[in-house]
Order: sequence, then structure tokens, then C-alpha cells
Amino acid sequence: MSFAVAIDGPAAAGKGTISRAVAAHFGFAHLDTGLLYRAVGAKVLEGADAIEAAEALRAEDLQADNLRTAEVAQAASKVAVIPEVRAALVDFQRAFARRDGGAVLDGRDIGTVICPDAEVKIFVTASAEVRAKRRFLELQAAGSTMSLEAVLADVVARDARDRDRATAPMKPAEGALILDTSEMTIDEAVAAATRAIAARR
Ligand code: DC
Repeated sequence: MSFAVAIDGPAAAGKGTISRAVAAHFGFAHLDTGLLYRAVGAKVLEGADAIEAAEALRAEDLQADNLRTAEVAQAASKVAVIPEVRAALVDFQRAFARRDGGAVLDGRDIGTVICPDAEVKIFVTASAEVRAKRRFLELQAAGSTMSLEAVLADVVARDARDRDRATAPMKPAEGALILDTSEMTIDEAVAAATRAIAARR
């Protein structure tokens, strides 16, 4: 039987951590859909055409080790405004959402476009400052020398592009639980998401 959990929200709000935790808790498969756009963005940085790269994307491309950089994040956000890029990635995501045994997908448009009939929809958010601080610490741990100000500027630019685009803009789905993690610990945020899912099972 399928059971889809849609977790959307802006960069560094905590949706990846929450998604991985609830997927492990309920034994669901997890897809970080941002990786699809990051993989396309990485190919564009290497000179590929965005639409061709999206149409030719393979599972192995999601394993590339450069997908977490700030440069690839911006490239991902830029290719994500192209309707043909998004269209090329829809079937894979919908099939994943309806696989047997349950699935958690996190992204920007899962509850609104990819899986509007998801059994659970959650929109995870936090203030731009809190998100920038979290991403700054992550990047620092990975060896980046980017300043906090530069990370905040990146987050704000990416939010604006993801929110203001014409196709599948980032926004809470109707009926989504809004989880503002600005003042929450990871454990509190995971517990709130777990309760919301448990209530629908
Ligand atoms: O979740 P992330 O930060 O890895 O996503 C990178 C970019 O990909 C994000 O800025 C916008 C785009 N994206 C999207 O448009 N739709 C999704 N479902 C997931 C990501």
C-alpha cells in the first residue's frame, strides 16, 4: 500500500533532517527532490543544456559528490524555474511517491504539484537568519570559508527565486501543517512531524 508524505519548505529550514528521521521511524523510502535539481544544476555548470540534462538524468547522477555546494544550490534554483526541466522530473517523483510501503518526499512543490493527494503535507519553515546560520555551520564543517553574510544573501536570493517563479512556486499546500522550526530543537521538530503522520495512519 502507498502512503505519501510531502514535506516542503525553503532552504535549510530542516526539511531534510525531518524527512530522513520520519522515513526511518515509519520505514518509508525517502527522496530529497532538491538533489534532482542540484544534479541538473551541476551539469549546467559543466556546460550542459538544462532541459537536455533533466531529460537524460539517471539515478547515478544523484550520487555526485559536488551537489551540496553553495554554487550548485544556486544553479539548481536557476534551472528549477524552467518549466521543461520541472516537467522532465515529474514522473519519477510521482512514481516514487506512490511506491509500495510509503514514501517521504521533500522539496518545494511536493504538496502543491507533485503529490497534491499526499496523505500528509507539512511545510517546514524558519526565519532567514536562523536558516542562514544553520547552513553557515554546515558549510563551515564541510570546509567552506563563506561568511555568514554571504550565506544569508544566498538564502534570501534563493528563497525569492523559488517563491516568485511562475511554475510550481514554493508555497504551503492547502491543508499543510506549518512547522516553524526557528525556535525548535531538531528533536521537537521531528516529534511534531511524527505526530502529524501518526495521526493519519
Ligand atoms: O532543497 P534544496 O535546497 O536541495 O533545493 C535546491 C533547489 O532546487 C532549490 O533552491 C529549488 C529547487 N527545487 C525545486 O524547485 N523543487 C523541488 N521540489 C526541490 C528543489
